[in-house]
Amino acid sequence: MAHTDRARWDERYADPISALQKGPHKLLTHHAPAPYPGIRALELACGLGRNALWLAERGYTVDAFDISLEALRRARDEMQRRELAGVNFVVADLDCFPLPDVAYDLVYVFRFLDRRLFPAIRSRVCAGGLVIYQTLNVNFLAEHPNAQPEHMLGLGELPRHFPGWDVIEARDGQRMSSFVGRKPASK
Ligand SMILES: C[S@@+](CC[C@H](N)C(=O)[O-])C[C@H]1O[C@@H](n2cnc3c(N)ncnc32)[C@H](O)[C@@H]1O
Repeated sequence: MAHTDRARWDERYADPISALQKGPHKLLTHHAPAPYPGIRALELACGLGRNALWLAERGYTVDAFDISLEALRRARDEMQRRELAGVNFVVADLDCFPLPDVAYDLVYVFRFLDRRLFPAIRSRVCAGGLVIYQTLNVNFLAEHPNAQPEHMLGLGELPRHFPGWDVIEARDGQRMSSFVGRKPASK
């Protein structure tokens, strides 16, 4: 399964259109905490690294994981082209790869869903740290009935994965749901 996932994503990223670098996600640029020396972030399913590279430009150190060798090859090339350091791009199948045992200031995910990862995501955020999450929801199935329903969020689902957190933003849109939440200092 993981092998075919990797092959599928590698093939997609080998296509010049899919491999175009886009700018960082607006939800991230709006909510990412102001950088300070030593600030750390974790990104799951980083693709071509558009978000991680944006954070690195602002002084973050980022651990960024993705299953696709091709995506991360391009992401590393782009990091070099921008003469940046600061992103540790790791090829990993998140189905079975343990997340680093680090307390991050920010953990974020865009357009990827594996519900088994929520406990690890919650625990990798430091007290007072932030989660930013956005991915497809079930409304997308109306337009794309062949999409895999297990990869779609239910409406109102994201905040339920972060009980007791301070909700900064929680929204169900026409295709995507998003959540920005802060882990309480006492958790
Ligand atoms: C829709 S893309 C989103 C990429 C990036 N987050 C963005 O918004 O630009 C989904 C990403 O999930 C990655 N992915 C899929 N299955 C994965 C797995 N089991 N482990 C790690 N990454 C995976 C793919 O390689 C792909 O880069």
